Amino acid sequence: EFGQKDEFWLFGYGSLIWKPPPHYDQRVPGYIEGYVRRFWQVHHRGTPSAPGRVATLIDHAHWSTLTDVHHASSERVWGAAYHIPSSHVAEVREYLDIREINGYSIQFTPFHPAPFTTSISSPPTSPPPSTPVPGIGEAGTGGSGLGGGHRSMRSITASTTIFAKLETQVPPIKCLVYIGLPENPQFLGPQDPDGLARHILKSRGPSGENREYLFLLEKSLLELSKDSGDDHVSDLVRRCREIEAEEATTKGEDLSG
Ligand code: BEZ
Repeated sequence: EFGQKDEFWLFGYGSLIWKPPPHYDQRVPGYIEGYVRRFWQVHHRGTPSAPGRVATLIDHAHWSTLTDVHHASSERVWGAAYHIPSSHVAEVREYLDIREINGYSIQFTPFHPAPFTTSISSPPTSPPPSTPVPGIGEAGTGGSGLGGGHRSMRSITASTTIFAKLETQVPPIKCLVYIGLPENPQFLGPQDPDGLARHILKSRGPSGENREYLFLLEKSLLELSKDSGDDHVSDLVRRCREIEAEEATTKGEDLSG
């Protein structure tokens, strides 16, 4: 199953993760596949003459033609999908087109909701486990077990507390995603990461500080699931922190010397 007819879901992988669109009625953490997230999009988080940089997605066909210093450690992009009620779809699409100043192209892709694990403390059918074994209450990791579209029994332990862990994988949902294509005027292509970090640190504009966007993106990604970090984003954050630490040291030396 791949979404329902007339359903509108939108995938957020940038500021939408922490700043949801208007009128959404469901938010689901999860990922899409076959794309790579990069800070290669020019954005108005900066002055018109010195615009900032935000995240965009590169699809596999274009990614394979590009050379980047960061390998794509995974072609899974984590984010959040939002369901927009049909009465507000036109309004939300207009809001996004205005907000993003038409710098992106649109694709539809399957979105995979993050699997979630439910612990149950007694067997679904009686009788209860006959011999409780102390200390093995939480055995079993749950695993990732994708693709089932149904609940599966991942582990059963004889325990006084947790009897079983049920992992639930919801079927994929058809989702709209804004991506960067080389022909989009605001798509930059591969960037030197040190230059990119320095550019982000000095850009601020009507939507706020570019640094704040980068740091909030890393934080919100890490909050989505235990697997949802992004090496490219975390590398940029680390570089920004190092540059700021260097600048603070230089300033201190200037003041004392
Ligand atoms: C986002 O914040 O995820 C986003 C929104 C619109 C276009 C591209 C990205």
